[in-house]
Amino acid sequence: MTTLVAVHGDITAQTTDAIVNAANNAMRGGGGVDGAIHRAGGPEILRACIERFPDGLGTGDAGWTTGGRLPAKWVVHTVGPNHGAGQRDRALLESSYRRSLQVADEVGARSIAFPLISAGVYAWPRREAISAAIDTIAATPTSVEEVRLVAYDATAHQEISSALVMATSVRILQGARELHRRGYHRLRVKPSVAPSGMYWRVALGDAADPAAGIHYTSGAETEFAGGRVDAMSTPGEVADLILRALPGLRATNDAPAYAAWFAGLVAAVEPQHALPVSSADYFDDTDGWEIGWGSGLRYPHPPE
Ligand code: APR
Repeated sequence: MTTLVAVHGDITAQTTDAIVNAANNAMRGGGGVDGAIHRAGGPEILRACIERFPDGLGTGDAGWTTGGRLPAKWVVHTVGPNHGAGQRDRALLESSYRRSLQVADEVGARSIAFPLISAGVYAWPRREAISAAIDTIAATPTSVEEVRLVAYDATAHQEISSALVMATSVRILQGARELHRRGYHRLRVKPSVAPSGMYWRVALGDAADPAAGIHYTSGAETEFAGGRVDAMSTPGEVADLILRALPGLRATNDAPAYAAWFAGLVAAVEPQHALPVSSADYFDDTDGWEIGWGSGLRYPHPPE
């Protein structure tokens, strides 16, 4: 069981077995996290970089060195994509997190602290840097038990903390998509915003009997359908929770158009964790559902 928490602090002070360095391809130190880690960890780290990475490190790859004078035993160096230089393939950023966890497993680290890779000098938009971090850490099989996402400034810490809470809502949508994939096409999903505008809501029910469904509000945070759903929950676990709460649901495989439409909706939500809205006070749905409350980004109504 792997936990994921947001921490406000300095990556070099983390007492985890390993900390992750947001390095560059040359692997000879730099500014930001890279500079801080080399300064705090001492010359041993640079010597190990030269010895173990004579030709540097590829973008999206990761490799370990000693932690030197740091509290952490290892530094896992990874090179994130440089958004400012035009490297905008999210798969490279996801790879940095996935490879770092794989390297942590190679050395046997049980706890690891990540900075927000590429979100500084490499100018990756922070909201997307956070959702890429959360979703990749959640989806990567690892023996690491404790993962920290370390924010250097209070704003980033607040953004990571609220992204972790709102991840429950994204996991619920992904769980519904998983049920459609299993053939439960009659599962209908209706997201809305509470009149206060403060909370996102979603109703999940059987098309044959939508009123007798499950109702979730983001105010309930990780409590869902009688269980707990957080950023680390898998779509399969959420699908099982929904099925337990809707015992009358049958795998009828009889609405492929709805299932395809919904899968497209979730694909539009995932990159920024922008939650969908089908109805709300003062919300004009003529142009379809909205992806991200107030974003102006629309998604077509579900097929009849
Ligand atoms: N502890 C935790 N987080 C930190 C620290 C620190 N001591 N210093 C900076 N950060 C945060 C930044 O605010 C940013 O959100 O870490 C995130 C990553 O910032 P960078 O260190 O600039 O890393 P990145 O954007 O991946 O750019 C990498 O910058 O430092 C150079 O040599 C490095 O060329 C490489 C590039």
